[in-house]
Amino acid sequence: MARAAVVGAGMTKFGVHDTPLQELFGQAAFDALDDAGVAAGDLDALYLGNAMGGQTENETHLGPRMASHIGAAGLPVQRFEDACATSANAFKNAVQAVDAGVHDIVLVGGVERCTPETGKDTPEMTRIFASASHRQYEQPTGLTFPGVFALLTKRHMHEYGTTETQLAEVAVKNHAHGRLNPRAHFGKETTVEAVLEGPVVADPFRLMDCCPFSDGASAVIVASEDLADSFGAPVDVTGVGHATDVVPLGDKRDLTATQAARDAARQAYDQADITADEADFAEVHDCFTGAEILASEAIGFAPDGEGGRYAAAGRTSLEGDRPINPSGGLKAKGHPIGATGTAQIVELAEQIRGTVGERQVADADIGVAHNLGGDAATTVVSVLEARP
Ligand code: COA
Repeated sequence: MARAAVVGAGMTKFGVHDTPLQELFGQAAFDALDDAGVAAGDLDALYLGNAMGGQTENETHLGPRMASHIGAAGLPVQRFEDACATSANAFKNAVQAVDAGVHDIVLVGGVERCTPETGKDTPEMTRIFASASHRQYEQPTGLTFPGVFALLTKRHMHEYGTTETQLAEVAVKNHAHGRLNPRAHFGKETTVEAVLEGPVVADPFRLMDCCPFSDGASAVIVASEDLADSFGAPVDVTGVGHATDVVPLGDKRDLTATQAARDAARQAYDQADITADEADFAEVHDCFTGAEILASEAIGFAPDGEGGRYAAAGRTSLEGDRPINPSGGLKAKGHPIGATGTAQIVELAEQIRGTVGERQVADADIGVAHNLGGDAATTVVSVLEARP
């Protein structure tokens, strides 16, 4: 198949921003354009992710605003909403359009504000996020996303003996990685003891098992195979898989499998013609520590049931043999939901280029991004590789 390439990458610091959406998006987009050496006028299209702007900030119809803010008024823009997998879905569609010859150079990005800067506090934002769960079968029960992932994780603990200490080890690792990432929401390290002493949010998750609410934006430039070599540091996109699953937890055949992630990973690995073992590192959707353990198994970085033990043994840390979330992940880097998917692609591209400094994964030639939405009901898995 044709191999689109990521030829530019940029993102804001994730955290708390009092900046309007178009300015936040502009920062990431201009960084990506500068990085690629591309002018806004050279773009063929903008693929934009924003999941909740209508509910959080009464901001809809963002496409033309974002395009005109970056000096590209008139550009065709497609906006994507796919819960937390929003901008990974935008990325998939951009790559497919480029591979199909529809466009040659596309800007793909995501932007979201989720902190009290929007005027919404934690309980209200939690309720808004819960709109991504099942309207009839889940929302009336009061189930929110910490609860959704707590239930999946409890089942994993029941089936495989995963422990709260192993969950805490994921938080410790990702905060250690995040401390090395100047664009991470949190730059502070933590300890297993501190995680285990934190207040319970949804059993078994305590405060430090949860990702934060964050504001931020991320963007990449995708160029066609024919053009890629004319850019300074192209990184090939060799696979993008995308799958869904039934939404209500009660309807899932296997609570710990996260089947959509397995299906998306199989598609992506088949397209890239690699096995999971050949991948050098991954960015996965660790909205909660337990979610990282499920993800590490779904993408084949750990055998089923072993994700917790892999984390506790240090195998998924920067120095381990299966590094996961060198950026700090959602846990420490932050989770402005519509920006998370393309932020993972930014990290993959920069790791493969070898430009991330202290958090560099050794020999990072093949990276995997796993971006999940809703009750593990949508997942996009992407594979990026160093250009041969
Ligand atoms: N990880 C680490 N520290 C966190 C944190 C997190 N997730 N959330 C908040 N903090 C810190 C804050 O920085 C603050 O520290 P400070 O006192 O030193 O300034 C302190 O904890 C209290 O912050 P506050 O914003 O008052 O916390 P909160 O109780 O309103 O929210 C959570 C904490 C965990 C409940 C909230 O972050 C949450 O719900 N996260 C999950 C979001 C989610 O569901 N996303 C969708 C995933 S699918």
